[in-house]
Amino acid sequence: MKQISQYLADAQQQLLQVLALPASTARIEAQLLLRAVLPMATRAWLIAHGNEYLDAEYQAAFEVLLKRRLEGEPIAYIVGVRDFYGLQFKVSPAVLIPRADTETLVEAALAKIPIEKPYKVLDMGTGSGAIAISIALLRPQAQVMALDTSLTALQIAGENKQNLAVKNLTLLQSDWFSGLNGEKFDVIVSNPPYISVQDIHLTQGDLRFEPLQALASGKDGLDSIRHIITEAPQHLNAQGWLMLEHGYDQSAQAQQLLSAAGFVEVVSLPDLARILRVTAGKRQG
Ligand SMILES: C[S@@+](CC[C@H](N)C(=O)[O-])C[C@H]1O[C@@H](n2cnc3c(N)ncnc32)[C@H](O)[C@@H]1O
Repeated sequence: MKQISQYLADAQQQLLQVLALPASTARIEAQLLLRAVLPMATRAWLIAHGNEYLDAEYQAAFEVLLKRRLEGEPIAYIVGVRDFYGLQFKVSPAVLIPRADTETLVEAALAKIPIEKPYKVLDMGTGSGAIAISIALLRPQAQVMALDTSLTALQIAGENKQNLAVKNLTLLQSDWFSGLNGEKFDVIVSNPPYISVQDIHLTQGDLRFEPLQALASGKDGLDSIRHIITEAPQHLNAQGWLMLEHGYDQSAQAQQLLSAAGFVEVVSLPDLARILRVTAGKRQG
């Protein structure tokens, strides 16, 4: 029988060796896995109770979760939550795990949405609802709509809307713009699928476990981006903004597509790693 601190140290060691995680990440993940089976455990609780012994039922449950993680399943799917923009979102294998990179898109959108005005905002391909909910909470006067084709994704977004007490958000099942009935918006944001269907990364790491329809989009990865840029002008008010996240090497193509569709003030913005990750343009007239 082992003490809690020993369980954590052993799990950290295995995560380091099998998944080659950095030491700090392995420590945090070991704690997250144990906290997922111990309802009372905060990080402080784990430290304070480090020399206590785990009951057999908790040991067994912890071993199951650790095995799943060692087999490569993303930690967010195992513990069922992921933090994004200072909020905690429920996630499941039905939705993309929200990425820190996507906070660049939220910040770019917030910069265009005045606090005091009832702007109409659309998030296309909302997944867990991370982008739409972050915007809706920080811009309570805005009327935010979030759509996705996936009903299971919309169910998760709905749970997040409820858990985070979001009032100004409507969820819609729609294949991109098709279900909008001509409605127009002041800001449209999207983190669409943008990986080439032939990209080898789809069969590696976390991506293996995430929904393919959230990741891949045609031969060059740009099918969804092309479609959204082509259709967006009909769904934007005059001077409205379209803002898209894209791959690390797609900013030039995104700029060209926006300019060709008549958008002005086209600009690309860097993420935390200084990679141009979001490209935006304004509808003329
Ligand atoms: C890269 S994920 C983004 C999820 C979430 N917005 C985020 O940033 O974490 C792309 C999302 O687009 C959705 N999607 C794919 N094709 C779509 C379509 N034709 N119409 C609407 N949504 C679509 C997927 O279901 C998925 O939830």
